[in-house]
Amino acid sequence: MSSTIPPVPAVERMLALFEPERRPAGGLLEDGYLDLLGEEDPTGAHPGQRLMLSGALALIYERLWRPLGGRLLMGATGPGIDEEYRIALRMLELSPKDRVLDVACGPGNFTRGFARAARAGLVVGLDASKTMLAVAVQETESANLVYMRGDACALPFRDASFNAICCFAALYLIQEPMRALDEISRVLAPGGRVALLSSCNRGPLPARTTNAVVRRLSGVRIFARDELTQALSDRGLTAIEQNVVGLAQFVSARRPS
Ligand SMILES: C[S@@+](CC[C@H](N)C(=O)[O-])C[C@H]1O[C@@H](n2cnc3c(N)ncnc32)[C@H](O)[C@@H]1O
Repeated sequence: MSSTIPPVPAVERMLALFEPERRPAGGLLEDGYLDLLGEEDPTGAHPGQRLMLSGALALIYERLWRPLGGRLLMGATGPGIDEEYRIALRMLELSPKDRVLDVACGPGNFTRGFARAARAGLVVGLDASKTMLAVAVQETESANLVYMRGDACALPFRDASFNAICCFAALYLIQEPMRALDEISRVLAPGGRVALLSSCNRGPLPARTTNAVVRRLSGVRIFARDELTQALSDRGLTAIEQNVVGLAQFVSARRPS
């Protein structure tokens, strides 16, 4: 008689990556995702940041808001969403068995594709917004994909837990982006890849000036041209590549093996 071992559920595989003291006691996946924040909200007070918690935005985010935002940031000739996804895959060099973390995953618009690419691996989508995650879990179809509500600046995972980490269209909204980068590099395994998409200062004004104005009006942080590449280098990452498109930058890097 042949016996088959049932696959370990994705949530169990994710919990195995947690720092022991960060493992939650109960309430697992009550809403379809693991909630580590409860009443806590790390997203910041600016209206642009609060918007990410709105139920209405979560519903139109993937089909309307995000494609439009990409156009505004990268211009009419910049990559559309499908091309952005291909860029992410290229930068992350996903293999079927990879453990992948999508930081600030929103409604899972890229996370779902990563789960198809790393089909024998594990994909974790992390975001702080309940409304974004509510949409993400509705769209989930892969057994290797799990969502959690957490803070990008205080990841619960052990060092070197992931082979690939994506953080698209989010560092500019995160309250303390350098702390998020600390965490991303900490949980990246040797040989692991990181892919970022964020804002980039262009034009005659220094980033400090542009950032002061844009941040006050929109809540979006404008990074200086070498700010993210330098931050990754300072955290020991190598093979850093930057591609500036319009007011955005794609940045990829690797933790040395
Ligand atoms: C514009 S969405 C990006 C979604 C997706 N990555 C994309 O490229 O379309 C930014 C996300 O960052 C999340 N976010 C902001 N601050 C966060 C934090 N401290 N921890 C986790 N997620 C955060 C928001 O909730 C929002 O869903």
